[in-house]
Amino acid sequence: MEAYIYDQMLLSHQMQSHPKEFEGKELSAKEEAKTLEDQNENLEHELQALKENLARNKQQEDASRKRLEELKRENNDLAHRVEDPWQRVKDKQRDPCRLINPLRNKTCKPFDKLLLQLIKSTYVNLDSEGYDDMSVIHKVVKPFTVLEMQDMRDRYILDPLYGTILMALDKIDDWDFNVFSVQAALNGDDHASLPFQEKGGALFVTFYALFWKYDLFKKFNIDEQVALNWVSAVEAGYHGNPYHNSMHAADVLHVTHYILSKGGLIERCQLSDKMILSALFSAAIHDFDHPGINNNFHIKTRSHLATLYNDRSVLENLHVSSVFELIKNPAFNILASLSEDQWREVREVVVEMVLATDMGLHGKYVAMMKTRLQERADFLQKDDKILALAMALKMADISNCGRPQEIYLRWSGKISDEFYQQGDRERNLGLACSPFMDRTQPAIAKGQISFMNYIVIPFFEQISELLPNMRVSVDCAEGNKTYWAQNDDS
Ligand code: CMP
Repeated sequence: MEAYIYDQMLLSHQMQSHPKEFEGKELSAKEEAKTLEDQNENLEHELQALKENLARNKQQEDASRKRLEELKRENNDLAHRVEDPWQRVKDKQRDPCRLINPLRNKTCKPFDKLLLQLIKSTYVNLDSEGYDDMSVIHKVVKPFTVLEMQDMRDRYILDPLYGTILMALDKIDDWDFNVFSVQAALNGDDHASLPFQEKGGALFVTFYALFWKYDLFKKFNIDEQVALNWVSAVEAGYHGNPYHNSMHAADVLHVTHYILSKGGLIERCQLSDKMILSALFSAAIHDFDHPGINNNFHIKTRSHLATLYNDRSVLENLHVSSVFELIKNPAFNILASLSEDQWREVREVVVEMVLATDMGLHGKYVAMMKTRLQERADFLQKDDKILALAMALKMADISNCGRPQEIYLRWSGKISDEFYQQGDRERNLGLACSPFMDRTQPAIAKGQISFMNYIVIPFFEQISELLPNMRVSVDCAEGNKTYWAQNDDS
């Protein structure tokens, strides 16, 4: 006790005789406390991110477990069939080509018929169509008459499913069309469950609406059932990745439509219906079967796909070739009614468009476009039309950066999640994390600002030279960049 009193008296004496020294000590003690507090806060953020990651991994694990069970069952079936050697010959005769059907034993999702009737009747109706019962284009969904449709709209406009989707589709020609509201009304935005959505999601609905809007069923006499099978399988072929999933495909499909229509591409290049069909087809499939890890990861880890495609546009080759394999099966052959010449041209454009989405080739495409713009090309020659279409899909692919902020922030969160998942896999394999993929060193703001400055804004400006109506994307991207400048997380 005495010693304590003595210490306190000594301390008080020292404080009075050397006040500056004590103020300094107090200040540095406060700074140290603040640093510790910040460190603590950072650790808490990291802990939270890791917990969220664990929860996501759990979701994916559940989904994979379910799929494993299904595969085991299928494998058992196959094992039984293999016991009968003649069965294999019979199977081969029935399916002479390599069939890849992401729906497995189904050919179509059990969609909501009323929903499709409402969508179809928004663009086409009995009175104007002279509806023919036997027509392949009306094989599955019978449109309403104008009067019936008015009545249906009034009845369902407040319905949480039908009303929400009809109202979302009312904006399909606008820059702020929101694929998330379509998805939320149908199945919710739970990325892990997107491949398993029973009745179809945003991609299914956006595709169906746009194919009717452009009247492609009629122009190419496309069998409605086959088209629904095709989009069911394409949607199911997208994985449950945070970003590269079927919602991203729906979003890119919508933006491609915007560039074609309000953006002015159809008019500027005088695009034929064949080219429009190719463009929408390409947008819908452009990331089909994307595994959620990028080309570099495949190349670094010498994966089977990297070897198969010789390290060149590995994923883009996968997307396009898998879908052309899929449509060898007549049940999914949405291009079946095209003549040989039409089919060749559609294939040529689709291959060119999808392969152009490899960001490793971005500089090459920008340079090609720069040359043609400097030469004041009229963009009416076939090669220029294909180049313009490829640029349009490339733009749609990264358009999230130039969308209204609410939409952009959701996508930037999703791409960061997917980047961090790749970073986790790299770390687990003992590899260095790719830039901006290390969740222990978050730098989203820095990554987004660099992406905007070096890639997005110059690219959108170039597209706006060809299509001045696309300047809206530059303005939005500038706004989104400012957001990060004011909300830096690093
Ligand atoms: P991919 O879809 O293969 O091709 C375009 C690429 O652009 C995409 O992969 C991402 O790597 C990248 N990308 C798209 N949007 C963003 C974004 N908001 N931030 C960072 N990178 C993006």
